Amino acid sequence: MFKHFWVGIWFLLLTPAMASFSQGRVGGPVWLEKAVFYQVYPQTFKDSDGDGIGDLNGLRQKLDYLRSLGIDAIWMNPIFKSPFRDAGYDVEDYYSIAPRYGTEEDLKRLLDEAHAKGMKVVLDLVAGHTSDQHPWFKASQQKKRNAYSDRYVWTKTTGQKPENYVSGSFDRNGNYLKNFFSFQPALNFGFAAPAQSWEQPVDAEGPRLMRQELKKIIAYWMDKGVDGFRVDMASSLIKNDPGFTETQKLWREMRNWFEAKYPEGVLIAEWSNPKQSVDAGFMIDFMMHFNVPGYPSMFFNSEGVFPRDTCYFDARGIGNPFEFIHHYMDQVKGVGNRGYVSIPTANHDINRPHAGSRNTPEQLKVLMTFLLTLKGIPFIYYGDEIGMRYVPALPDKEGSVLEIPGTQNRAGSRTPMQWDNTKNAGFSEADSIYLPIDSKRFYPNVQGQEKNPGSLLNYTRHLINLRKLYPALGNTGQIQFLNKGSETYPLVYERSLESQRLIIVINPSGRDAEFVIKGYDGFEFEEIITDKARIMSDTKDSIIYVGTFGYGIFLIK
Ligand code: GLC
Repeated sequence: MFKHFWVGIWFLLLTPAMASFSQGRVGGPVWLEKAVFYQVYPQTFKDSDGDGIGDLNGLRQKLDYLRSLGIDAIWMNPIFKSPFRDAGYDVEDYYSIAPRYGTEEDLKRLLDEAHAKGMKVVLDLVAGHTSDQHPWFKASQQKKRNAYSDRYVWTKTTGQKPENYVSGSFDRNGNYLKNFFSFQPALNFGFAAPAQSWEQPVDAEGPRLMRQELKKIIAYWMDKGVDGFRVDMASSLIKNDPGFTETQKLWREMRNWFEAKYPEGVLIAEWSNPKQSVDAGFMIDFMMHFNVPGYPSMFFNSEGVFPRDTCYFDARGIGNPFEFIHHYMDQVKGVGNRGYVSIPTANHDINRPHAGSRNTPEQLKVLMTFLLTLKGIPFIYYGDEIGMRYVPALPDKEGSVLEIPGTQNRAGSRTPMQWDNTKNAGFSEADSIYLPIDSKRFYPNVQGQEKNPGSLLNYTRHLINLRKLYPALGNTGQIQFLNKGSETYPLVYERSLESQRLIIVINPSGRDAEFVIKGYDGFEFEEIITDKARIMSDTKDSIIYVGTFGYGIFLIK
């Protein structure tokens, strides 16, 4: 068993790729072909009732803003009843909304208004564990057998305590298996290869009932009008399953059931291995900081949750894009048209684009140009469109500090959305708020950037719009990187769909750069967007010149 999700997950790299299962509807619902997602951290997006914590009505007030940005779907982190020791990833009741976020009525109003404005709303499903305060877990601790005795994984005696098992003063004679923090007991979906006397096979009664419960939870919210789920730690459900055969079978069963019942619904994995998760039936998966390598080498620098010395998007220009290109292309090709790879701008667990020395609107525009011209589905983490920063040195808030040595506080990426320059940046009227507003005096904010045509906000809006105007730039267009060998800066790639072809050039370094592109003689390059970039094609080969923090999108004619 893994010591820790994000540490143990490296082990997965050693396991062979899985065989495919029978295909459902290819790629999921059609609306995904053009969708741009936005992740809302509900705690800190917009507080409507003055308690210092964001809520559903607050989000509802901001739907027009999201629509104006070009957003098609919103994913919210967990909003269910919880003691909030891991910010809501410790669920106490899957069937009720945490009062701090509002009521079911509020959710219904949010869904109705979002739908009326043409946007979908996706919830977060913490499928692998609950809070230790969940009534199921309390019942499970009892010595006398009951309906929840097998809902979690318990050893037969307290003397048995392998790694990842947690003891406590329970009525029951046993220790329980945790899934992440120790207050997050793992739900019992069974073991692919039971090895210990207490480990149950996936088709034992407890694991089977757990699958049914999962369907019940999904159906409960889908029937209320929700548009799908992002599944937390989706690969963690079945234990002792190094090849993920049984985990994939479980999710394939879920997908078949789900799409027959909710053909417009979306299932997104937090698995970070799209080839594997799409085989398992997910429609979208991220490629992030664990599992498949590549993301950190592009985006993580010395300030952030997982600090690194350098990365590709670093003004010093000492990184290289090849690890990312290799793994991203492998995933994109492996997934084909059966699903989507997503390279998110950030999320609630990692640093934002604005981190450490990557701190000017100029640099952030280069990064945003890259993220919004990739193949796959974009996920914009709230506030990245205005360049909110990863705020260092915050207190531990609701489990934001991980138990992984060398990591920094996740709270730095969870600070309140900066709407304007009034009290609490327009996030809340309260005197005491969930996390402090960025202490920088001139923090970026929506109101200021709306007025400025050259702002990151308006640029992001423009990029999203371009994705829709030029289908080759969008979710389904092909992608091919032109960099080889020692060609590290700039980054050059072609996007294409049918006869439409575009060249994109990105220079995140603080130095001028040039790049020879071969095989384009006879073509002209029309500038769609450029900043300090041009293509000279008066010689046989075309040469791209791109200045410090320059970028360009060119239509090939
Ligand atoms: C996922 C979530 C993270 C949470 C963990 C445990 O990785 O993104 O925020 O702490 O799972 O549920």
